[in-house]
Amino acid sequence: MLNIIVAIDENNAIGRQGELLCHLPADLQHFKAITTGHTVLMGERTWLSLPHRPLPHRRNIVLTDRVSETFDGAITVYDLQEALRLANEEEEAFVIGGGMVYRQCIAWADRLYITHIHHTWHDADTFFPEILPSCWSEVKREEFAADDNNPYDFSFVTYERKKA
Ligand SMILES: NC(=O)c1ccc[n+]([C@@H]2O[C@H](COP(=O)([O-])OP(=O)(O)OC[C@H]3O[C@@H](n4cnc5c(N)ncnc54)[C@H](OP(=O)(O)O)[C@@H]3O)[C@@H](O)[C@H]2O)c1
Repeated sequence: MLNIIVAIDENNAIGRQGELLCHLPADLQHFKAITTGHTVLMGERTWLSLPHRPLPHRRNIVLTDRVSETFDGAITVYDLQEALRLANEEEEAFVIGGGMVYRQCIAWADRLYITHIHHTWHDADTFFPEILPSCWSEVKREEFAADDNNPYDFSFVTYERKKA
């Protein structure tokens, strides 16, 4: 099962200047709960953006074009097909970003774990592809209001690929 997990704003934005759009502790906890114990696949820029590398208790796979590069604590891979082959060795693997890797992987994904942040960042520079209703069915939704720790309303929504 290949999953994608991502937090997007109302315009599908996911980042700016190499960083996340906001600090949403509830989303970080959700991400940790869902991905711990599994394989996570990411692009080099997302790897470099992590405050602590590798992500603990997860098999980290990092994609780069630079064939002389390796990343301590991660499996380094140099093409998408090899990354997908490794991910498919697992019962559950998660594509965790960023924009470039999501765009390439969405065609192969079975399930999307989307955090919809109910806000718009006009200075965002990195985006998630459109979630086409013709391809994806919403199977679960949880709504949350902003609170002292989480500055925006948000929803955790799971989508599954529609059968052909
Ligand atoms: N909101 C969220 O949930 C979320 C999650 C993750 C990331 N983000 C944000 O997304 C942004 C980063 O995304 P991004 O699109 O700039 O970068 P990215 O997808 O994280 O990484 C891109 C890099 O990955 C490597 N790569 C990608 N596809 C490859 C392929 N097929 N073969 C070999 N290497 C490949 C290349 O590395 P080399 O340049 O080394 O060749 C490429 O430059 C940041 O702002 C980050 O905070 C947001």
